[in-house]
Amino acid sequence: MKILVVGSGGREDTLCWKLKKEKNQIVCASGNGGTARWGENINIRPTDIEKLSDFVKENGIELTVVGPEAPLVEGIVNRFEEKSFRIFGPSKEAAQLEASKVFAKEFMRKNGIPTAGFEIFNSEEKALKYILNKKFPIVIKADGLCGGKGVSICENLKAAQEAIYSLMTKKIFGRQGERIVIEDCLFGEEVSYLAFVDGEDFLPLVSSQDHKAIFDEDKGPNTGGMGAYSPVSLMTEELSERIKKDILKKTINGLLNLRIRFKGILYLGLMLTEDGPMVLEFNVRFGDPEAQAIIPRLTSNLLELMMEAIDGNLSKVRLEWDKRPVLSVVLASAGYPENPVSGKEIFGLEETECLNDILVFHSGTEKKDGRFWTKGGRVLSVTGYGNDIKEAKTRVYSAIFNVQFEGMQFRNDIGEKEIRRIKDGELSIL
Ligand SMILES: Nc1ncnc2c1ncn2[C@@H]1O[C@H](COP(=O)(O)OP(=O)(O)O)[C@@H](O)[C@H]1O
Ligand SMILES: [Mg+2]
Repeated sequence: MKILVVGSGGREDTLCWKLKKEKNQIVCASGNGGTARWGENINIRPTDIEKLSDFVKENGIELTVVGPEAPLVEGIVNRFEEKSFRIFGPSKEAAQLEASKVFAKEFMRKNGIPTAGFEIFNSEEKALKYILNKKFPIVIKADGLCGGKGVSICENLKAAQEAIYSLMTKKIFGRQGERIVIEDCLFGEEVSYLAFVDGEDFLPLVSSQDHKAIFDEDKGPNTGGMGAYSPVSLMTEELSERIKKDILKKTINGLLNLRIRFKGILYLGLMLTEDGPMVLEFNVRFGDPEAQAIIPRLTSNLLELMMEAIDGNLSKVRLEWDKRPVLSVVLASAGYPENPVSGKEIFGLEETECLNDILVFHSGTEKKDGRFWTKGGRVLSVTGYGNDIKEAKTRVYSAIFNVQFEGMQFRNDIGEKEIRRIKDGELSIL
C-alpha cells in the first residue's frame, strides 16, 4: 500500500521503518535524514493540510498516518474524511482531549475518571487568591498546546505566583495560557499507557515509560523525552484491567456521549498513586520516544491494525508482541532543550545500525552530500532489544559508543529505575 506518514521526528521514523518492513511504499512529510531510508521525503509541513491533501490526491496515497498532534488539532482528519481519503488519527473534536487541558479536566470530572483535583481560571486575580490557601507543591498548567513547556510544579507560593504571572500577564504562550488549570500535585511513578481505539473498542499496547528531564536522576529542565523502555514492571495484569475499566472505557464512552468517535491512538499519561492510577493528561497520538520502545516490540501487522481501527473492527484483532524488552536512548544536541545547536556532522551511523538487535531511529537529522548532519534538539534514538531490560540497556549504551557528533548529550540512566525495581523482586508482565 502507498502510505503517507506525516511528521518529522523519531516517532515518525519508527512508524516508517515498521510500515516499510511490512512491504509498503512510504512517503514522509516532511521527514528527516532517517525517514528517507524507507522511502521518499516530501517538503510539505505537517500542518499544511491543503497541500498534503493535494499530494494525496495527485499521488494515489491510500492511507495517511499522522504522527504529531498539531495537524490533528487543526483538523487534518476532518478534512481528509470530507474528501474520502483514508487517514489514521482522531478528528479535531476528539483531539481536544490533548489540545485543551481545560476540556480534558472537565471531561474527566464529568465522567468520573480519576485525576488530580483541580480548578480552572480565566482571571489572574482569582487564580492568585485561590493559591493563598493551597498546600504546596501545586501544579499550574496552561490550557493549550505549549510544546511540553506549559506545566509548572510550584514548590511554594512565590513560584506559583510567578507561574500565573508568566502565563496570564506576560502571556509567554499567548492564547494557550489565557485559561489555566491549577491542580493538586500527585506522587508516584509515571507510566504511559497507549491504546488503539476504533470509536468504540480498544486494544491496549504494551506499557512504557518516558524520561522527561534532560539530566540523569531526573534533574534539570524537562525535554520532549530523553529515552524510554517497554515494558514497565509496575504495569501488572490487574492494574491494566483497572485502567481499562476506570479510565479507557469511561473515556471512550464519555466521548461517544458527546457524539465523538475517537479513532487512532489514545495515550494516557498516568501517575500510579497510592490511591490507584490517575490521569495526568491525554495525548491523541503515539508518544515520542515511547513509539521507539513500543513499535519495535509489535510483531502484529501495524498497517492492518490501523485499517481495522479506521473501519471500526478492532474487536476482531489480537495483538502479538516480541516478549523481549526494548530500551531507547535519545542522543541530543548541545544546548538542548533551551538552545540546541544544529549543523554538526554525525559519524558512525552505519557501524551502529548494523549491530545485532540495535535500531537507530532519526529525529533531527538531515542528509546532505551523502553525509548526515544534526538538525534540531533531539537527533537520534538508539534502540535495542534484550532478553531482559538490563541486557537491552547494556546493548544500547555500548552501541552509542559508535556514534559521535560535536556536543552530543544523552542520559546514562535510561531504564535504571526499572532495573532496580526488578532486582527488588517485581515481575515484568505487560
Ligand atoms: N498533577 C500533577 N502532579 C504531579 N506531577 C504532575 C501533575 N501534572 C503534571 N505533572 C508532571 O508534569 C509533566 C507534564 O505535565 P502534562 O500534563 O503531561 O503536560 P504536557 O505533557 O502537556 O507538558 C508530567 O509528565 C508530570 O511529570
Ligand atoms: Mg505530558
